[in-house]
Amino acid sequence: MIPDLNVNFAGIKLKNPVLTASGTFGYGYELADLIPLKRLGGIVTKTITLEPRAGNLQPRIAEVASGILNSIGLQNIGVEAFIKGPLEKLNKLGVPVIVSVAGAAADEYVETVRILSGQNGVSAIELNLSCPNLKKKIVCHDLSLMRDVIRGVKKVSGIPVIAKLSPLVTDISELALAAQNAGADGVTLANTYPAMAVDVRTFKPKLSTVKGGMSGVCVKPMSVRCVYDVYRDIKIPIVGCGGIMTGEDAVEFILAGAAAVSVGSSSLVSPGNLIAIIDEIENILKSKNVKSVKEITGIINEIRIA
Ligand SMILES: Cc1cc2nc3c(=O)[nH]c(=O)nc-3n(C[C@H](O)[C@H](O)[C@H](O)COP(=O)(O)O)c2cc1C
Repeated sequence: MIPDLNVNFAGIKLKNPVLTASGTFGYGYELADLIPLKRLGGIVTKTITLEPRAGNLQPRIAEVASGILNSIGLQNIGVEAFIKGPLEKLNKLGVPVIVSVAGAAADEYVETVRILSGQNGVSAIELNLSCPNLKKKIVCHDLSLMRDVIRGVKKVSGIPVIAKLSPLVTDISELALAAQNAGADGVTLANTYPAMAVDVRTFKPKLSTVKGGMSGVCVKPMSVRCVYDVYRDIKIPIVGCGGIMTGEDAVEFILAGAAAVSVGSSSLVSPGNLIAIIDEIENILKSKNVKSVKEITGIINEIRIA
């Protein structure tokens, strides 16, 4: 029996639950010569803003034990250039495209989503409400601003909107619930963890911005905990994200409550890992005689301590 990997995520039909994580896979089409992109469940693009952004100064990536620190600062070509270039190429791939969007203010998010929503080939929007690498505050740390962004975007979008949240909050469920109540169709849990590292040879920080966002193997248990905490409290589906390197890691997120997963740092190590993760999920389900990925989504929640 071949297990059914199909997932209907908030109305987006995914042939399997594996997505690329924003910012770790370029705009999404560049790796077409390296891996069969068609096999992916979906592509989440680099975060796009209304105007082009140069991002932060180098160095903005540093390897640390079991993970990566980054402070890219949302470098991107801006929404108009994205539509004329990368989006056209993405449209030819036959894979759902989820465009990640950020802005310096609520109206910038709304305007960017308004422009994107009129385009063919955008299956959904992922709102980056959680970038730790801008000088301004993290949007989802201000509940009323987060609500304004989601409500504003929902008025103009006409396609599913996924809110990507920061894990650095006291109560991630409260945040996810607020996103749902403002109209989000799904949540991504979670973005990177604010962190820093110092180079003891130079006595300087390893990133130009001093602090950045931590991702990779070391964050996985914390992000799995976010998914587990939120699963029972919201009705909308969850994209699990953080430290997924293997199919086993992906299944861990799914058991905790993720309907889909997004893979970032692992594809920076080797883009082929994305395909290996899809194959491994299928093999794990086969070995456990599970008919469909939906069957095991969130089942760990049946085991709850009082
Ligand atoms: C180099 C790099 C760039 C990133 N850029 C973005 C971005 O533009 N937008 C965003 O929402 N997340 C961004 N992220 C966060 C990832 O999408 C993901 O949430 C995080 O890395 C955790 O997943 P991972 O451990 O699988 O990498 C970036 C991460 C890295 C490592």
